[in-house]
Amino acid sequence: MPDRNQASEKTTVALCRIEALREKRTLGFEIPFGETTREIFLVADGDHVRGYLDRCPHRGTPLAWTPDRYLDSRGEHLICATHGALFRIGDGHCIAGPCRGDALTPVEVRVEEGEVFVVTSPT
Ligand code: FES
Repeated sequence: MPDRNQASEKTTVALCRIEALREKRTLGFEIPFGETTREIFLVADGDHVRGYLDRCPHRGTPLAWTPDRYLDSRGEHLICATHGALFRIGDGHCIAGPCRGDALTPVEVRVEEGEVFVVTSPT
């Protein structure tokens, strides 16, 4: 259940346990985002957790080539299933493909007591 922070109008949503993310490395979610929902995904990046909108900057399509699978075959980069653009895990910057130089849109994530949360804003 979302936890709404009245002062900042931000909403915190619990997504998963950190162990579940580390096991699969990437997981996709549909979350409430203001009056609508958005598709996002998480990626385990060493001791960090990164979160991005599941929308390629090239054509706006979802990245995953099958549910919860966002990494290339080497597990080194995020990959878009539509035209194969490659993105750095740490900052979402596109290093190869038709949207080279562009970037994924980050979402704010937090880890507290082993639980991964996303922080959303209606704006
Ligand atoms: S839609 Fe992602 S590379 Fe074209």
